[in-house]
Amino acid sequence: MRSYLTSLAAIAASIPFIDAHGYVSGIVVGGKWQSGWNPSYQYSSTAPAVAGWTTTVTDNGFVTPADYAGPDIICHKGATAAPTSVAVAAGSTIGLEWTVWPDSHKGPVLDYLASCPGDDCTSVDKSALEFFKIDAGGYINSTGNGGSWASDQLIANNNTWTLTIPSNLKPGGYVLRHEIIALHSAGSTDGAQNYPQCINLKVTGSGTVLPTDTVKGTALYKATDPGILINIYQTLTSYTIPGPAIPSALKAAAKRGMAFVA
Ligand SMILES: *[C@@H]1O[C@H](CO)[C@@H](O)[C@H](O)[C@H]1NC(C)=O
Ligand SMILES: *[C@@H]1O[C@H](CO)[C@@H](O)[C@H](O)[C@H]1NC(C)=O
Repeated sequence: MRSYLTSLAAIAASIPFIDAHGYVSGIVVGGKWQSGWNPSYQYSSTAPAVAGWTTTVTDNGFVTPADYAGPDIICHKGATAAPTSVAVAAGSTIGLEWTVWPDSHKGPVLDYLASCPGDDCTSVDKSALEFFKIDAGGYINSTGNGGSWASDQLIANNNTWTLTIPSNLKPGGYVLRHEIIALHSAGSTDGAQNYPQCINLKVTGSGTVLPTDTVKGTALYKATDPGILINIYQTLTSYTIPGPAIPSALKAAAKRGMAFVA
């Protein structure tokens, strides 16, 4: 029995990860790098305690519009709360390093926060999280097949997305929900691909704003949203970034989002 289990574990450990899509492997705050959740940790009995939420993602895959009302859209497949947090001051930046991103997978990059009850995100119930958007990039211009998108900016920036934590955000424990939505097949119903990644943050500062106009993860998107069901290989004159608007009470972070909402 024991050797049977041992060999099962060996087989599991050797399952290859298709690296075509990638995941957030690094979190950079104030020049300091921390490891994110590596999906291969799910096969390790000694997975390091990181601030990236655990998942059961096996192929760096995605969640589809058919699952927008289900739990996997919140923080990716089988996600559970991370045991630690990344400390970050309101008003400062956080860099999210993806292992790789294919340039064919064009689309918006979005960032949301949800406040954790009692500021403790380590055992939070994801279905209770109430999200508000703090940052987003969408369609930029028509250069290239399918145009230039926030995903192309991420690739050009060392596969890294850098966002600012709103300077007037109330300090506390938050779940950061970072996401790329790939639209290369989004001209057909259920063709968009969502790649959410969640990270626990401990936000410091003296801000006072905690948005109350929030949305559950399972209510962020609909399959027919104009920014979800869209053929990007046509001439676009505008693009509506999916999800709720950035609350107007939040400072600074809205800059990029507003600039790219055509
Ligand atoms: C389109 O956007 C890309 C990415 O930001 C940029 O490199 C390129 O110069 C832009 N092209 C035009 C014509 O503005
Ligand atoms: C680019 O990202 C890699 C990790 O993917 C990191 O090791 C490296 O330091 C980054 N380079 C710069 C210039 O930030």
